[in-house]
Amino acid sequence: MKSQAEQYAELLRKRELSLAPAGQTAIDRQHERGKRTARERIDALVDAGSLRELDRFAVHRTSAFGLEDREFLGDGVITGQATIDGRQVFLFSQDFTVLGGSLGEVFAEKICKAMDLALRTGSPMIGINDSGGARIQEGVVSLGGYAEIFWRNVQASGVIPQLSLIAGPCAGGAVYSPAITDFVIMTEGISQMFITGPEVIKTVTGEDVSFEELGGASTHASKSGVAHLTATDEDEMVAMTKALLGFLPQNNLEDPPRYAAGDDPARLVMELDVIVPDVPNKPYDMHDVVVPVLDDGDFLEIQPLYAQNVIVGFGRVGGRSVGIVANQPNVLAGVLDIKSSIKAARFVRFCDAFNIPLVTFVDVPGFLPGTDQEYGGIILHGAKLLYAYAEATVPKITIITRKAYGGAYDVMASKHIRADVNVAWPTAEIAVMGAEGAVKTIFRKEIAAAADKGAKMRELVDDYTERFANPFIAAQRGYVDDIVEAHATRRVIAESLEMLAHKRVERPKRKHGNIPL
Ligand code: HXC
Repeated sequence: MKSQAEQYAELLRKRELSLAPAGQTAIDRQHERGKRTARERIDALVDAGSLRELDRFAVHRTSAFGLEDREFLGDGVITGQATIDGRQVFLFSQDFTVLGGSLGEVFAEKICKAMDLALRTGSPMIGINDSGGARIQEGVVSLGGYAEIFWRNVQASGVIPQLSLIAGPCAGGAVYSPAITDFVIMTEGISQMFITGPEVIKTVTGEDVSFEELGGASTHASKSGVAHLTATDEDEMVAMTKALLGFLPQNNLEDPPRYAAGDDPARLVMELDVIVPDVPNKPYDMHDVVVPVLDDGDFLEIQPLYAQNVIVGFGRVGGRSVGIVANQPNVLAGVLDIKSSIKAARFVRFCDAFNIPLVTFVDVPGFLPGTDQEYGGIILHGAKLLYAYAEATVPKITIITRKAYGGAYDVMASKHIRADVNVAWPTAEIAVMGAEGAVKTIFRKEIAAAADKGAKMRELVDDYTERFANPFIAAQRGYVDDIVEAHATRRVIAESLEMLAHKRVERPKRKHGNIPL
């Protein structure tokens, strides 16, 4: 029988061992790859000393392919509970130094336990991914483990925020856990996500592609839209994660944290009065509208490099978190297309699930015409955004800065799909289409018959513009509640958020709707 001193010494020895289960050489190799270790990543992310680790002594149960002689305390993943800026989170961090961070039965059980606790306690779940995928030696058991995680991701969706940090390879079916989570943050140079790797692609399609080109951070930030944020290094990844969490509630039953507003909510933003150009087709950068309206100009843009014709992201007004959705006249004239509709729809649904009011800035000429778009299913994908806005019950505030044409007018949080506050700037044009298109359609014969077609066209366009390309017709009908000077926008948003703070909407009971996927 061991003495208590011996028992305590053994505990300390095993604890010590669990800090570097694969030894210093493996840690050195991880550093040589330009990556932090799983533990260093947690230390950088959470409040100092706040980690309460789970299952640090867990080991695999496999006796195949030599694993019977190789045991690693913790089985290649660190899991537990910690605080970030004083708020509780659960997390896992995959340890590439142990069997390439590959996922086996026990590894998966550890992640599932942390996820279950996160859901039970209403705390955000953060996964740091750096793994060679399914642990080959464990076979189908590791596939089962993945599916257990996927199932939990789905149960937790819309209940607790789920964040995936990609800090190494993430391949095969393993990518589907991050894909189900709310936000994927990738790091340049060290992270790759793909379903099938370059070798398989070469065999099947003959294409030559590198790991980075195929599934690196830049690719997923700009081409696929899989990455919501990309960091230049691991420090930035941590900073982005903390900034993002700061906008979010702990769970769907709570409101996001409200910060003391140092920035006067009634502050007038005079530069907005000169943003919209006199010429209707001249672009401007919608960031110049969004950013100065927010507290301290602090805007965390989501998917900034993907479908740039729509801008989405988080900010605060009067200390309250808001989700911004804005058409971007600088890119494709701010038109809605397949990618931008999907991007905005997912963002709207996230905000709605987590009690984050939506502020929508509208300058949209319509949906993008073309066979590419029609064959690609713009009907379905555009409907996603319409559906998302219509089902959202969080406070919805809409500001029309310039164009709100056609179906896109309806879609972009119009009064008819139950936005709460709709205002227009005096520069707004709310109509079925732009003046030229409208005149060409309804006065085709008159223009053709005119001796001076150009003059006739100009006359008709001027008349149409005078009569329809303004916000007053919509205001007469109550489709916009008010027409406000651009400089008053921040004040209007702050007052509206205050007015809507206790908004309640009851919806009919149903299992779930059927969003056009
Ligand atoms: C077991 C693995 C492993 C795996 C890597 N290792 N992947 N062990 N199962 N899946 C081990 C390696 O044998 C090596 O062990 C150590 O991890 C480090 O790997 P390296 O290859 O030396 O590292 P690196 O050169 O950086 O390459 C990393 C890698 C590569 C690109 C991830 O290891 C790789 O391609 N691994 C296989 C990936 C794969 O095919 N996974 C299965 C995908 S299918 P030693 O002991 O030598 O240090 C899948 C299905 C999931 O995941 C389905 C879910 C539904």
